[in-house]
Order: sequence, then structure tokens, then C-alpha cells
Amino acid sequence: MANSVAFVFVFVYLPLSSYFQAFHAMAHEWPAGGSTRFYDFKVQTMRVTKLCNTKEIVTVNKMFPGPVVYVQEDDRIIVNVTNETPYNATIHWHGVRQKLSCWFDGPSYITQCPIQAGQSFAYEFTMVKQKGTFFWHAHVSWLRATVYGAIVVYPKTGVPYPFKQPYEEHIVILGEYWLGDVLQLERQVLASGGPAPPADAFTINGHPGPNYNCSRNDVYRIDVVPGKTYLLRLINAGLNMENFFAIANHKLTVVEADAEYTKPFTTDRVMLGPGQTMNVLVTADQTIGKYSMAMGPYMSAQNISFQRISAIAYFQYLGAVPNSVSLPAKLPNFNDNLAVKTVMDGLRSLKPVDVPKKIDTNLFVTVGLNVNKCRSKTPQKNCRGMNNGTFAASMNNISFVKPTISILEAYYKKIGGQFTVDFPGAPLQFYDFANGAPNNAPNNTQAINGTRTKVLKFGSRVQLIFQDTSTVTTENHPIHLHGYSFYVVGYGTGNFNPQTANFNLIDPPYMNTIGVPVGGWAAIRFVADNPGVWFMHCHLDIHQSWGLGAVLIVENGKGELETLPHPPADLPRC
Ligand code: C2O
Repeated sequence: MANSVAFVFVFVYLPLSSYFQAFHAMAHEWPAGGSTRFYDFKVQTMRVTKLCNTKEIVTVNKMFPGPVVYVQEDDRIIVNVTNETPYNATIHWHGVRQKLSCWFDGPSYITQCPIQAGQSFAYEFTMVKQKGTFFWHAHVSWLRATVYGAIVVYPKTGVPYPFKQPYEEHIVILGEYWLGDVLQLERQVLASGGPAPPADAFTINGHPGPNYNCSRNDVYRIDVVPGKTYLLRLINAGLNMENFFAIANHKLTVVEADAEYTKPFTTDRVMLGPGQTMNVLVTADQTIGKYSMAMGPYMSAQNISFQRISAIAYFQYLGAVPNSVSLPAKLPNFNDNLAVKTVMDGLRSLKPVDVPKKIDTNLFVTVGLNVNKCRSKTPQKNCRGMNNGTFAASMNNISFVKPTISILEAYYKKIGGQFTVDFPGAPLQFYDFANGAPNNAPNNTQAINGTRTKVLKFGSRVQLIFQDTSTVTTENHPIHLHGYSFYVVGYGTGNFNPQTANFNLIDPPYMNTIGVPVGGWAAIRFVADNPGVWFMHCHLDIHQSWGLGAVLIVENGKGELETLPHPPADLPRC
């Protein structure tokens, strides 16, 4: 089996850009597990032309999507990030549990100050017992609209996949693209108090495909050999949209979700919220031809405008007529909640797992939107939310406000005034969350602003119930927890009811981002064994900007391997 990783490596074609292919071809040797892998990330602006429109985007190493980080399980990764743009930057390694390395997690004002223009910071962490498909993205403002790339972690040398070795592997990153400047857009949206405008296009590996204005030749393509099986590493790096993905006439077999193996589950389509990754096997078992791979919207909320045109890439058989029309892929309707549930129901851990059975800390957290009273003297300009209010979002009705230095630094150095430790373990007010707003007022549902954290004892066994609320609208929220994966032990529609809730304590999936069902709830469990300051937030950036987040602080344990080390010397200053 010593060859298996080399085999994988040789056949990973990286169609992300020719620049990368050149780089990739040079690296012939595969390191043994436990080695250190170095990467150099230069955050740079670059001119791109898409949809007949030229603009500057922020990228890493002038690549879009950015460079792929390739390592093996248990490897140490060192990425030196230099910010050559005028904007603040940080990089988050999404899904990496950062065991004892919270300083390198990346969310701005949570674990670090941003890397300022001209500065650099070396991220150093180990992929402790982790393998699979991850991604990295900027974690400051809306920069991650263009600053993202894949992380591929292979099993240790000699360790095969728990499924037949695919013939080739391909990374498929779903994204959203705006014609305008995204940072400017963010400022305008937040100042307006109103909703975020839809993206101008969806993209697959940076390419919108033929369906948009002036994009006919900007199409990503995988060339496939008839009869062979391909592993697609799907990543949703979009900003504000959840998405369906399907390939015309082909079945997808899910074998991994959020970088953990799952029982093989065969389906016609999958749904990924931003922050979710999924590995699927696809066999080229259809008649020779050109098939569409399609990415379309999943929108569970009411009265929100969104991009409805699908991004298309080609799954093209060798021998197909090159400029023949592609067979269209069938995507579910944008509001097909059942299709989403079917995918979720199919996700099971590969083997029985060790789910915490006894719980020390039980948290109940509502997730949803708010409408705050207009406080502006120019309401036409600044209060463009529902009923002339301003949109906000919250957990347990607390709208998260970022502090001015990082919470981790303030916590570690005992600097006061940056955060409080009173995040409530349950909402302050109970009502019919799934069907009504407090006092049946769909408007003026004021959130409380705060930088509130919840402190957890080292080793405590935590259960967290997320409950969607219906203020403004119910909606599927992709909730992401930093520093941990968690078992998704249950979910359902309506209000959570402990009497009737069905939990899977045998083989639930082990994830880092859970799509809380629209108008429903999800229950997760994990053991708080990684000390640090961990952000928990909706991975729709507009909701995160509106305050849909909170912070968990996990205290040190007793032993050396239970204690967060000192901060690195080059930790950026605010
Ligand atoms: Cu992928 Cu806090 O994010």
C-alpha cells in the first residue's frame, strides 16, 4: 500500500489554474506522515475579467481560487502569510481543529488582530488525527468572497481510503461572484440596514459557466475516461448562499462530510451550506457525452432576492464532441426543503462513534434575525430593513459585536473591558420560536448588543440545541463551530421538544458546520477538550456581520497537553 498515496498524488489533476499545475508538477516526492509542510501565502490584489467586466480582486498568490494546501494526516503546516494589500487580512483554516493552537485559528478579533497592510504572520498548526477535504478562507470583513482555497489532507502513507481507490481526484469549489467591489458592497449593505444584494454569478472553481451574460467560454471542465470513478472534493466557499449540486445523469456517492468519513450514501444531488465540504464518488458510466455539473441556489427564507441562474461546469467524456451541447443537470427547486433533509438523513459516520452520553453543560441557543428600531436621522438611507428598521441577527437574542482587540488576547492577558462572560445558556424569553415572534410582532424585535462569551470547563461534555426563529423569516442557518467537530445527534422541524426528539447516539455524522433546518432545530454534542477562544457563528457572512454569533471559551485543563501555549511572537497587533 506504500504506493497508494503516490498514486493519488499523481492523479490529482488540479485544474484550478495553469500556474498551479506548473507548481504542482514540480513536487514529485511525497513526504512521510508527520513532516512539516511550508507554504508561502501572499495576499495580493489582481485584475480579473469575468462576465465582460474587469475589476481588482483580492487573492492569495494571484490565484483564484487560491493555492491548494496538500498535506497528510498528522503533518505540521506552516503558512507564512504576508499582506500585500491595503486591507486588513487574516486566514482561517476551516475545519482544522487547532488542537492547542488557538492562536493560529484566524478569525479576526476572536483569536487575533488582523494582519495589517505590509505585515506578515506565520500560521503553525498540526493536522492532529484529521484528514479529508478542508478549506482556508479570509476571516475579516467579506474578503473571503475571493480569498479562499482548498486544503487536502491525505491519509498517512499506506493507509487506504475506506472505499475503492478512485481513478482521479478533483477539487470543486463553489463560490459567489460580484461585479462590484465586495468590501465596498459590505460597507453599503451594513450602512443601509437592509438586505444584501444577490451575487452576480455563482462559480465553480472560479468559473461561472455558460448561463450568464458574457460567460460562455468561462467554464470549468473535468475530462473523464469512460468507466472510471472520480472523487470530487466539494467545498462551498460561497458568501451568503446555500447551494445544491448535481451532475446530469450521474449519481453521487457521498463518502465524506466535513472531513470525516461517512457510510456511502448514493443520491442524485447534495446540498452544501457555506463552510461545508463533501467528498463524492462519481462513476463515468453513461454514454459518451458532455454532462453538466450544476450549482444552484437553496433558499429557505421568504422575501429575499437571490441569484437564480445556475453555475455550470462540464463533466466531459473522452471522445465526446467538444462543442456539443451539454446535457442539463436537474437541480431541486430553490425551496426544496425535503431534498435537503434527504441529504442530511443520509449522513452517518462510517463506524459507530463515541458520542458523549452524559451531559455536563446543556445549552439552548436560538438563531435568527432581528429588526432593530431605526436610530438614524436619515432613515431612508440607513433603515432599509423591514418596517423601516435595521436588520440584525443574534444568538439567544444577543447580537454579537466584535471587540477592538482579540478576545483570545484579552482573555490570555487578562485585559478587561473587551468581553463579558454572560452569554446565556438559554434564551431570556421563551415563545413559539418556529412560528411567531415575541408578542406576535414581526417587526421591532430588538436584539441586545454585546460581546458575550460562554465559559466551559476543560473536558465538559456539551450538548447544544440550535433553534431557528421566525422573526423576519425562518431560514436554514449553516452554524459553524471553530476548534471542534461535533456529533449531529438530532434535528427536526418546529420547536425542539425533548419529549419527542429522536437522537442518534450510534453513528451520527461528525461535522463542523450544521445547517439548522428552516423553522427547526439541530442538536450537537462534543467534549470541550481543546482550550481556547472559539467562534461559533452563522457561515452566511451577512448574518455574521449582523451579529449571528457567540464565543465559547474553553478553560485550560491540568496537564501540559491541556493548556494553551503562549502566543507566538509575531502575533499581529491591532
Ligand atoms: Cu469558515 Cu468562522 O469560518
